[in-house]
Amino acid sequence: MVKITIENVVKRFGNVIAVNNISLEIKDKEFFVLLGPSGCGKSTTLNIIAGLERQDQGSVYFDDEKVDEVPPEKRDVAMVFQSYALYPHMTAYRNIAFPLMVRKVPSDKIRKQVMEAAQMLGIESLLDRKPYELSGGERQRVALARAIVRNPKAFLLDEPLSNIDAKLRVAMRAELIRLQKTLKTTTIYVTHDQVEAMTMADRIAIMNKGKVAQLDEPIRIFDKPADTFVAGFIGSPPMNFFHCSLMEEKEKTKLKTSEFSLSLPSDVAALVKEHGNTSDLILAVRPQNISVSKQRLGDDSFETEVYAVEPLGTETIVDLTVGGQIVKSVCPPTFKASLGEKVWAKIDIAKIHVYDRKTEKLIV
Ligand SMILES: Nc1ncnc2c1ncn2[C@@H]1O[C@H](COP(=O)(O)OP(=O)(O)OP(=O)(O)O)[C@@H](O)[C@H]1O
Ligand SMILES: [Mg+2]
Repeated sequence: MVKITIENVVKRFGNVIAVNNISLEIKDKEFFVLLGPSGCGKSTTLNIIAGLERQDQGSVYFDDEKVDEVPPEKRDVAMVFQSYALYPHMTAYRNIAFPLMVRKVPSDKIRKQVMEAAQMLGIESLLDRKPYELSGGERQRVALARAIVRNPKAFLLDEPLSNIDAKLRVAMRAELIRLQKTLKTTTIYVTHDQVEAMTMADRIAIMNKGKVAQLDEPIRIFDKPADTFVAGFIGSPPMNFFHCSLMEEKEKTKLKTSEFSLSLPSDVAALVKEHGNTSDLILAVRPQNISVSKQRLGDDSFETEVYAVEPLGTETIVDLTVGGQIVKSVCPPTFKASLGEKVWAKIDIAKIHVYDRKTEKLIV
């Protein structure tokens, strides 16, 4: 158990700034997720915390101790790599047992701990196999078991479920959440999968191009994405964006796009006016907050055309042509429409966000 702090950390590889002045404080016992697209600097950040990579600037602290000069093996963290690093000549059992054997733990105790971890990860029947006899997902689970048995100060996990099939991944997600809550070991978990981040994290840091775009609890990131990058990254299908501006019409303040306009509640209108820039804005709406019907849906609904229909069983995603862009809406599974059919769409005004198009930051 440990609090991990990184302060103004910078890491360059030649001309690439992999980590661009990041500061984070990961609380003791926290399940902390680093989320972001490929190449945004997640693994580099994790490797710096583990001591496997040396930062060019800034410092890492475990509790109040600066660990910049502490080698990785003395930091007492267990790391699971994106490319699981198992010892190829050892069986799965010995791979898992290895950290305990090094510490000269009695063999009956080792056996007990290895079996417990193996059971938790569903790999009891694989313990006699060597890594080359295991699938990618099985190797990943062996690597996780090896991390668990060590009982380290912190788990540093780099996409540990990426090679596991979808069904098992969902099950493992729940197991990992339970495990972390039981062991109460500070955990930093790297993923580019927003569902993993949303479901597992106490807090998420969303990274973009070596910087932290937003740091918050999952639900707050979902409800109030701080900029258009986060808004577009979190949520499935992704947020719809419309270029728009503010205008007054018949004593109402409206957001006007090239295809439709929306009357704003007075508090939202006031906030946008206060912001100053009212002419170069982005309206952001989740597909779940656009309803579609064959009939007109009252004020501010607008007529569009069906571009594609994607039934998923639990819901149906309907793609609409709005101006030159495709807009996604999530409809009930009973919704049916043919391609090119004229339909009406309506945006739930209570759920919209407005961003400044230049700064890309959230206004309201
Ligand atoms: N050893 C290295 N040498 C040169 N460039 C590197 C090195 N390691 C990482 N980079 C670059 O630094 C940036 C960040 O890489 P990093 O591995 O941290 O990304 P990531 O967020 O973990 O991505 P992914 O989701 O694909 O694993 C990338 O542009 C990458 O190409
Ligand atoms: Mg990575």
